[in-house]
Amino acid sequence: MTPIYPFSSVSQPYPQHQWYIAGWSGEITTTPLRRKMFGRDLLLLRTRNGDVKALTALCPHRQMPLCADNQKADRLICPYHGATFDQQGHCVSLPFQTHIPQGMDLTPFPVVEQAPFVWIWAAPEEPADMSRLPDTSILFPADDKKILFGTGTCHVRARSQIVLENLFDQSHISFTHPKTLGTRDIENGPTKACSIVEEPNRISFQHPARKHPTSPDIAALFPNIGPITSVQSRAELFGVSLVVAAGSEIISCNQEGQPGQTMGRLEFLHGITPETDTSTHYHFAILRDFSTDCDELSDLYSERNRSVITEDIRILDAIEPHLSTADGRHEPNFTSDAEAIHIRRRIEALIREESTVMD
Ligand code: FES
Ligand SMILES: [Fe+2]
Repeated sequence: MTPIYPFSSVSQPYPQHQWYIAGWSGEITTTPLRRKMFGRDLLLLRTRNGDVKALTALCPHRQMPLCADNQKADRLICPYHGATFDQQGHCVSLPFQTHIPQGMDLTPFPVVEQAPFVWIWAAPEEPADMSRLPDTSILFPADDKKILFGTGTCHVRARSQIVLENLFDQSHISFTHPKTLGTRDIENGPTKACSIVEEPNRISFQHPARKHPTSPDIAALFPNIGPITSVQSRAELFGVSLVVAAGSEIISCNQEGQPGQTMGRLEFLHGITPETDTSTHYHFAILRDFSTDCDELSDLYSERNRSVITEDIRILDAIEPHLSTADGRHEPNFTSDAEAIHIRRRIEALIREESTVMD
């Protein structure tokens, strides 16, 4: 067995007995949405009573793809020979015979809606393990005034694992994002996590706080902030699909740099879901709890985030065509790759665990 890049012990590109982000609650409506995931053509739709369903999108008879155009009322009608399916995926009628042969149902994939996310279980032949569904309530405390904005989805022509690792890689920022995120000197360059919280469904890298004299931009947003601003950032992976990268807390400090009140929180969400073995859906959004009614600020952050993601995708797309030659190769690492490698090892262990279960 040759391990598949970037892993050193498994030949499977991503864990399958896991929940992934299928999409945003708001984009799944009664009109079916076609989205390929895990190499399968799928339809995501919402029933009239509000439940989300995921079904294979190919008619089992002759593999005709089904889409929104084939929907009549609550039924999907195959445009080739007219097989009719209900919203559970059952074939309920054929036009010229009463007997429905076996194997005519569309395969349902388990889904769970935890707004704003819709999660999908990637292995429909295995029972969905609810204990693996990440608990994202920590991001949305009940009494919180956070807003979610700048939501979108884009496509990467690269395998999901390198998209994931890129979000835990601080040292690319100065070179991939100099115009959008600026360049960093040695002092402000990559830092080693000062604490790591590791739980079955979550890993969180807490970075050391960075203190700077309060800039005019920050002072305009937080008029009561002290002369020094401290930014405490973290990078987190929920399950195997949701990353909160550059999640930061803006803390007011006095002249001596003593931290005081937290002024605001800004979190960038990234949902990474395999489309195929070598391509990925990239869902993104931002959360913040300050100046929540300022649309201009939302537009500013959203535009910059889209530009940053476009810059990342340019790099990832350029790397992917060369990765098949890297299978099984020993790769040099920088000190600053520690977090990405930590994530790699964790994902690799999950893949190994499920292949052992299958053996
Ligand atoms: S391909 Fe769908 S009914 Fe024949
Ligand atoms: Fe980046």
